[in-house]
Amino acid sequence: MKLSPSILSADFANLARDVKMVEECGVEYLHIDIMDGQFVPNITMGDNVVKALRPITKLTLDVHLMVVNPERFIEDYANAGADILTIHQEATPHLHGALQKIRNAGMKAGVVINPATPVSSIQHVLHLTDQVLIMTVNPGFGGQTFLSECLEKVTEVAKIREEKGYSFDIEVDGGVDDKTISACKKAGANVFVAGSYIYNAKSPQERINALREGLR
Ligand code: DX5
Ligand code: ZN
Repeated sequence: MKLSPSILSADFANLARDVKMVEECGVEYLHIDIMDGQFVPNITMGDNVVKALRPITKLTLDVHLMVVNPERFIEDYANAGADILTIHQEATPHLHGALQKIRNAGMKAGVVINPATPVSSIQHVLHLTDQVLIMTVNPGFGGQTFLSECLEKVTEVAKIREEKGYSFDIEVDGGVDDKTISACKKAGANVFVAGSYIYNAKSPQERINALREGLR
């Protein structure tokens, strides 16, 4: 079970401090949300931020690309030091090729689907995938309400993994807190992104402990 705090809710004026803080709290991944103002309405950061964070943390950099035609940027994120690069099924007509390209660039390849997108839309690329991300909110903003209807897709993709003998991780992103995390785990997820729940708190350590509690 892996926790992946999303720095979208961190203090951007103190990013290094906020990254080191969650690392000291004992999390496994760091989730970095890249938004282009086109695939989603918001604009956040780019590969320059990944590059700046790489030398200051040992955490696995779990980069979530919410950009149109993500295949344009694969080399940039590899050079910046991303460990996992996750791209949206909805963002490219060349998903298969893009996932191959991510692996060839030396990163783990992730594929992500929005709440309205069915698991069947990624069934033919699952063999090229190291991590499947099931969005549990509509992408674009932190702090939204968890969409429990997405959990049936977690179960569905876990079932396919078992049937086909694949070994990808299953990640959930959006609205994860000490309560919703248990249902995510039960559905079959093993990587949990949490942004506002961890960072918009007086004690992120207590929040991380509560998430671990929810996984027991
Ligand atoms: C939303 C992002 C999420 C976001 C989650 O588009 O992909 O990673 O940071 O934020 P919370 O945990 O606050 O829902
Ligand atoms: Zn994300």
